[in-house]
Amino acid sequence: MPAKVNLQLGVGPIRDDGYHDLVNVFHAVSLFDEVTVEPAPELEVRVQAAPYSRVRVDGVPVDGDNLAAKAAGIVAARLGVEPRVAIRIRKAIPVAGGMAGGSADAAATLIACARLWDDRSQAVAGDQPALTRDDLMELGAELGSDVPFAVLGGTAVGVGRGERLTPALTRGTFHWVFATADGGLSTPAVYAECDRIRAEMGEAAAPPRVSEGLMTALATGDVQGLGAALTNDLQEAALSLRPSLAEVLDTGLGFGAIGALVSGSGPTCAFLAETEAEAVELAESMDGAGVAEQVLRAHGPVPGAAAL
Ligand code: C5P
Repeated sequence: MPAKVNLQLGVGPIRDDGYHDLVNVFHAVSLFDEVTVEPAPELEVRVQAAPYSRVRVDGVPVDGDNLAAKAAGIVAARLGVEPRVAIRIRKAIPVAGGMAGGSADAAATLIACARLWDDRSQAVAGDQPALTRDDLMELGAELGSDVPFAVLGGTAVGVGRGERLTPALTRGTFHWVFATADGGLSTPAVYAECDRIRAEMGEAAAPPRVSEGLMTALATGDVQGLGAALTNDLQEAALSLRPSLAEVLDTGLGFGAIGALVSGSGPTCAFLAETEAEAVELAESMDGAGVAEQVLRAHGPVPGAAAL
């Protein structure tokens, strides 16, 4: 199940329920966590870094707080079974990095558990499964705002908390370089900082609207247009909490990235390259500059979580 980068993250005013109304253009990229779900005497979660990955997993909970454990619980409750599974997560997506790694793990667990516990999935072809992909997206929304997209994948526009999704038309493949940072950023803390900055500036947030320029660039496969249209309303807040990210963004742009932005609530920074070859070069230059903990390359869009 893939990571995501937000191509547009428009953040509206805070709502009564503490969430913000968003226009969230999600884009799934080819950086994958692997999740295995097996029957076990009781619910158990194990987390490790994927082979060849240098992801730090120490901050990830291995109890009921893990989003994947919650996902198993929610599917079990819906299907009327006990959530007796061992969930093993091999992480390649940066933890608390603004790339929805936890949501990806939850989405994979939803799909795996639905398949494991759905008797009818073994039945004759053509039978409807007990839980369709739409059902899983609905259950996912209870776990987190980004989980439904992790089930769906591709490129999609999310409104509401970001959970009401419409697939977006895209053409071709886009090439990305990601610079991870030492230590994550807490999503609620970044939203709170965004509210604080707005209050300080006396700015009332307008309801966000989908960028037409972005949609056109995606639909026509226009890399330059996409680079110019990348926006993230949380970027200023992420930079305020982690000022060193400004240098990371400048470094990537200095090395010729077509566009750069903080991914979601950060601290991972995303850079768009014109071609795959340029992404390779950019990644090498970024690595050499030593401004990131890790430099990763990926392309998008890719499909959402799938059972193998
Ligand atoms: O839904 P999720 O658990 O992923 O959200 C994490 C946190 O991010 C929320 O508790 C909230 O502080 C913030 N958030 C928000 N508005 C959204 C989505 C998330 O304020 N639309």
